Amino acid sequence: MIFVTGGAGFIGSNFVLEWLKQRHAEPVLVIDKLTYAGNRDNLNSCNGEIGFKFVHGDICDYESSLSLLNEYQPRAVLHFAAESHVDRSVHGPRDFIWTNVLGTFELLEAVRRYWSSLGNRDSFRFLHVSTDEVYGSLGPNDSPFSETTPYAPNSPYAASKAGSDHVVRAYHHTYGLPTLAVNCSNNYGPYQFPEKLIPLMILNAIEGKALPVYGDGLNVRDWLFVSDHCAAIRRVLQAGRIGETYNVGARSERSNIDVVRSICRILDNLLPKRSGCYGDQIEFVKDRPGHDRRYAIDPSKIERELGWTPSESFETGLHRTVCWYLENMGWVNGVRDGRYRDWVKANYDHRGS
Ligand code: NAD
Ligand code: TYD
Repeated sequence: MIFVTGGAGFIGSNFVLEWLKQRHAEPVLVIDKLTYAGNRDNLNSCNGEIGFKFVHGDICDYESSLSLLNEYQPRAVLHFAAESHVDRSVHGPRDFIWTNVLGTFELLEAVRRYWSSLGNRDSFRFLHVSTDEVYGSLGPNDSPFSETTPYAPNSPYAASKAGSDHVVRAYHHTYGLPTLAVNCSNNYGPYQFPEKLIPLMILNAIEGKALPVYGDGLNVRDWLFVSDHCAAIRRVLQAGRIGETYNVGARSERSNIDVVRSICRILDNLLPKRSGCYGDQIEFVKDRPGHDRRYAIDPSKIERELGWTPSESFETGLHRTVCWYLENMGWVNGVRDGRYRDWVKANYDHRGS
């Protein structure tokens, strides 16, 4: 079996749902703390499946992780669990250092102890899921991030992920733990918590609210449809070289204002307004402090070594995503509780337009 930490979050739940759809899929045990970003309902369709088990747990809890590892004897741990939203890390960095750095450390300690006791240690894998944000910000003419780009994290989120990457690296070099790592660009798709750019804009648009674009809207992100990321992770788990990092991206750079305008155009077609168009709701608001200007990934290593390429273009992936949110308003309403409304107030009230 495999363990998936953070399997009730956005990418983790997409990964688990797709994993269990494979023919002869190995069983999965999900460990998730169910923070505001984790939603047990994302995995409802797996309930009752023999190959699925959910544990409400915290990666900071060494004893609990060790006892689960000893009991279930996984052949791999896929580590998605994290605090993941840059804006929240600006408002409150503590949880980010706690879960992303200390939590990864405690998990690695439990994994190291379990792995040391295995007969066949070479076939075990610890796969760490990380981000391109650890590399910092690019200028307009800089080459995209490669696996050898020096780390230069700028936000507390990026710094905490960089810290976790370094600890994973050290566990391979010092103890020989068979690790793999993926550093991926911005994901989008079904089940993304509606505080991130794409779902927030879709929902604000259809609810007639302002579409708050930070700064001049010309910050650039490199977008990847979540299923393509999940496929990359499966491929790295299957054939990645031990101790290596693979950068994952779709060569799909877009400025934020272009992304928001694309969402508006899709909605203009799918759900036309009585008067005007969705683009009329765009408002430029006060920028995020320390806002990274541009991210871009060079995915040539994973393409060359493992034959992975994305299946979805940004246009087709965005269309699928908009349709998913329109068809899943029950899910949306379920995740937007009082804490969500408090967050929207904390993040947007002071920005003005
Ligand atoms: P998410 O915030 O949607 O989900 C994170 C999940 O981790 C949630 O289910 C949450 O409950 C769980 N979690 C948080 N703290 C925990 C703890 N202490 N113990 C156990 N579970 C805990 O995040 P996501 O967007 O799905 O990202 C998953 C991973 O991918 C993260 O490591 C993130 O850094 C990385 N990543 C994300 C993106 C992106 O665009 N979303 C891009 C590249 C890399
Ligand atoms: P986000 O989805 O938070 O991802 P990240 O900060 O990890 O890249 O934001 C994506 C981009 O969109 C980022 O440049 C910030 C910008 N943004 C806005 O302009 N307005 C918003 O309301 C949000 C949430 C993000």
